[in-house]
Amino acid sequence: MIPLRYTLLFCLSLLPTHLRAQDGEQLYGLYCAACHAPDGKGATGGAFPPLAGSEWIHGNPKRSVAIILKGLTGPIEVSGKSYNLEMPPQGDALTDDQIGAILNFVHNAWGNTGQEVKRDLVRVTRAEFESRTTPWTAPELLKLFPLEKQDTALANLTSRVYKGQWNLMPDFNKIQAENVEEEHKGILDTALAAMKEDFGIVWEGDFMAPVDGEHLFILDADDGARLILNGQPVAEVKGLGPMGSGKRISKGKAVLKAGANPVRIEYFQGKGEQGISLGWKLTGAKEWQWVSAQTPKSKPGTPPIPLTPQDGKTVIYRNFIEGSTARGIGFGFPGAVNMVYSADHLAPELMWSGGFIDAGRHWTNRGQGFQPPLADEVVTLTKQPILAPSARFKGYSLDPNGNPTFHIKLDGQLLSDAFAPGPDGTLIRTLTLSGGASVLEIPLGDNPSVTPVKSVSLAPGKPVTVTYHLK
Ligand code: HEC
Repeated sequence: MIPLRYTLLFCLSLLPTHLRAQDGEQLYGLYCAACHAPDGKGATGGAFPPLAGSEWIHGNPKRSVAIILKGLTGPIEVSGKSYNLEMPPQGDALTDDQIGAILNFVHNAWGNTGQEVKRDLVRVTRAEFESRTTPWTAPELLKLFPLEKQDTALANLTSRVYKGQWNLMPDFNKIQAENVEEEHKGILDTALAAMKEDFGIVWEGDFMAPVDGEHLFILDADDGARLILNGQPVAEVKGLGPMGSGKRISKGKAVLKAGANPVRIEYFQGKGEQGISLGWKLTGAKEWQWVSAQTPKSKPGTPPIPLTPQDGKTVIYRNFIEGSTARGIGFGFPGAVNMVYSADHLAPELMWSGGFIDAGRHWTNRGQGFQPPLADEVVTLTKQPILAPSARFKGYSLDPNGNPTFHIKLDGQLLSDAFAPGPDGTLIRTLTLSGGASVLEIPLGDNPSVTPVKSVSLAPGKPVTVTYHLK
């Protein structure tokens, strides 16, 4: 007789491939939806805590794994609402693969932006807490895996910048955007356009409502702005005019479902000062929560675009730069190292030493095309995309000194590409690959005057640094 174990194995191998591949959504339906609801908002009308928009699934992904393995009991606050219930442990019922699949579904569903959960992480977490026999309590989890402070209620924000001269809000759908960026901090700031006048910005993303119910919004702008939630206009500051006087402020309200609500904020600037402020609160709450760099009380003004690194900090220039692709982003590092990174080529594109960029020319000669770097000798490092066609630009983050790290997603792997000024006018680049097992070969260009190394091979988890020498 064939032992039962083998029969089971045999049956498993006959399962349709979509089940063997561990369909996270399907497993979620089987193992979680009874309590957290198919839409992630918590079963029985929110009597159970939501996973959609929950702060508990952001940050260290081990926290979610630990919760599924051992369960959770006692008082907990999720998205501003208190619960005191019990979630049973499921570590014995689910394999590492299944837990990984469920969490990779949950972490990316309903507007969530949790981290990827690797099978190894589940295995390691299981081993780490193997001897634990009781469910977690929220304070225990917070000690081990502190919550990541979500920047604002605006998540998954992208910005599009447009050039044009308007007296009223234009139909941005009919205009070609100059560039598209991800705004990781979830803050509206007109300075991102790096322009003084005659431009527009459209932000799109999710407004993460903490609870079901009525939300109030307050919008002010110099010049025009419009707030659209779930496709419905909520507030609008019309035409041209200053902000901060209180006269042009527009208030609105919207009944929202807890979790991600698609949001669109349109803005245009004519001449003179610029700015936008947007705040929100739950009906009955005292304080406005600001999702903008400015508030109606802060002095509106034109954000300065420094032409040279100031206070030892790196400056950014996001307009078109001569010699670079449309999505070239300029960085002036202190110590007179300058670089244009191309989000089209996913690589540093130009480097030069000396002055950065004459942004002033842009103000006086608007629409005159690309700005030239302030140097006679500009080194071109790449002329085409250097990574596999499937590689995707996922935006960049800045450290407190303004030094950028670019984020690139490859099949199942993440590449972070950080640049910072080094000693003697050098530029230090740190490449880090995470996830997967494949080694990535990264060409560095063929210019010995900048770096003698032609390419580096990058293994997951082993950062490599490259030094660029500029005379
Ligand atoms: C039997 C009901 C039940 C099932 C099934 C269940 N949970 Fe829970 N879950 C709860 C309860 C209740 C809490 C809050 C516990 C408390 O009050 O301390 C919770 C809390 C959580 C939390 C932390 C708080 C939050 O809302 O973000 C996460 C994450 C979570 N569950 C994920 C899952 C996942 C993933 C599954 C499926 C593998 C699952 N749960 C299955 C009932 C359940």
